[in-house]
Amino acid sequence: MSQQKERWASRIGLILAVAGNAVGLGNFLRFPAQAIDNGGGAFIIPYLISFALMGIPLLWVEWAIGRHGGQYGHHSTPGMLDVLGKSPLFKYFGVFGIFTNLVVAAYYCYIESWTLGYVWFSITGAFNGMNTDQVAQHFKNYLDSGQGNFLNLPGTAFIFFGITVTLNLWILSKGISAGIEKASKILMPLLLVFGVFLAIRALTLTEGTMGAQHDAIEGLNFLWTPNFNSLWDPKVWLAAAGQIFFTLSVGMGSIQCYAAYLRKKDDIALNSVSAGFTNEFVEVVLGGSVVIPIAVAYLGLASLTSFSGFGMSFMTLPNLFQYWGPVFSVIGGVVWFGLLFFAGITSSLAMGQPVMAFFQDSFNIPRKKSVFIFGALVIILAIPTIILYDHGAFDEFDFWAGTFSLVVFALAESIIFIWIFGIDKAWEEINRGADIKIPIFFKYVLKYVTPTFILIIFLGSLISPVGGEWSQAFSQLFSGNGWPLAPDSVIGKIFHIGVEDRDNIWVTNLTRMLLMSVYLLFGYLTYKAWKLKLKKEK
Ligand code: ALA
Repeated sequence: MSQQKERWASRIGLILAVAGNAVGLGNFLRFPAQAIDNGGGAFIIPYLISFALMGIPLLWVEWAIGRHGGQYGHHSTPGMLDVLGKSPLFKYFGVFGIFTNLVVAAYYCYIESWTLGYVWFSITGAFNGMNTDQVAQHFKNYLDSGQGNFLNLPGTAFIFFGITVTLNLWILSKGISAGIEKASKILMPLLLVFGVFLAIRALTLTEGTMGAQHDAIEGLNFLWTPNFNSLWDPKVWLAAAGQIFFTLSVGMGSIQCYAAYLRKKDDIALNSVSAGFTNEFVEVVLGGSVVIPIAVAYLGLASLTSFSGFGMSFMTLPNLFQYWGPVFSVIGGVVWFGLLFFAGITSSLAMGQPVMAFFQDSFNIPRKKSVFIFGALVIILAIPTIILYDHGAFDEFDFWAGTFSLVVFALAESIIFIWIFGIDKAWEEINRGADIKIPIFFKYVLKYVTPTFILIIFLGSLISPVGGEWSQAFSQLFSGNGWPLAPDSVIGKIFHIGVEDRDNIWVTNLTRMLLMSVYLLFGYLTYKAWKLKLKKEK
């Protein structure tokens, strides 16, 4: 493996880059949607417990695996897992860390490009005078423009996607310190300023100000009034743990890559926690103080349940910003979608670097050429998500790569690192050069609690029952009527359970074959790379 000499230039740059990796669209789009779907205050407690018992330990595990692998010249997870033990199979688990980054980068860059498009629409006043339905229709037209319906917004989805990918590749081509680190040092502070501005604007909306019908603070109460009943609801736990995975970017292979550019004795214990808490601040404090309070101020608490997923930000907010008058509606739009774009790009850069590093390390391909290969793969993979968006290709990408693979990979890496490499060596690795003293209690959490936690999440997602009603499902099972598998459980997905619209099944199946081929391709490249390495060593 070629020993790369690239390093982070400064500690603050490293923390901003890793925080930029974590802080993403998940913080501002996915978190509010998950919180709403899972009852607001009912979601927060399982979410925070998952952060403490699974998120933080996984951050330590991934930083340690990365810094350790970096000492052997590995900057992507196949090589990093390979050096943790003797089994030749470990590197194939590591392939998940390439697969996930690449596939998520493809659909993630597509959403990122919407945000860029919406900055443009906000600047040009495209939403001026539009009513609620027209703003919602504008979003549908935008997506349609990527699906062959060029009537309303000709090719727009492709244009902004092209610009987004080009920007990503340009920054990646500059390297770690002159590219990713520099971009993070500019974009992360801007993101924070934009986030604070919007949060203040949102939270100071009271009944009667700027057309608001309710106090925005009711939205905060919704999120922050704890509901301890949720502690017994596995559905909420699954959602909360899933959010922790996505938002921290754990189980992806990107944290390990960033940590591989550290020196052997650089701190990881404190750096990882600092980046993790920055992410949580941005997610829970800023992410929770914008969309939900603004929506509640104008549309009322009862309306929240009618929003789902990304729709709220693209279909509703541009309309609500209109209440702020001609100038402030433009500012609101630019700041909101600009913030989303900054959050998105600092995360997609982190997805690109490990894929490029794999080509650089394994086949000695220069950086510029690796950037080109990564870009070509992202475009090829994104095309089905763009042109078959309404047929479910995008959702398949998100489910298999952005949700399921994260759990599988985190489970595999934590077992390999903690149980095979060994907890004592793992603990030593995490604590070497540490600027904080991690309480010994966490050694036991790492050894027993975190892997068990992930295992339960994994098993739970395989068989989750209809509506997340676990107790009903068990009574149905014990009364001999079988297990009511949910359509969105892993097994339910595999067998297309509950899919009424059979017309799109071919898209689902083709998409899965495509994803499987990506995994196999990188498995094969890993096999080749190791053969090459052995030949060189002889
Ligand atoms: N962690 C990134 C996000 O939250 C992927 O969007």
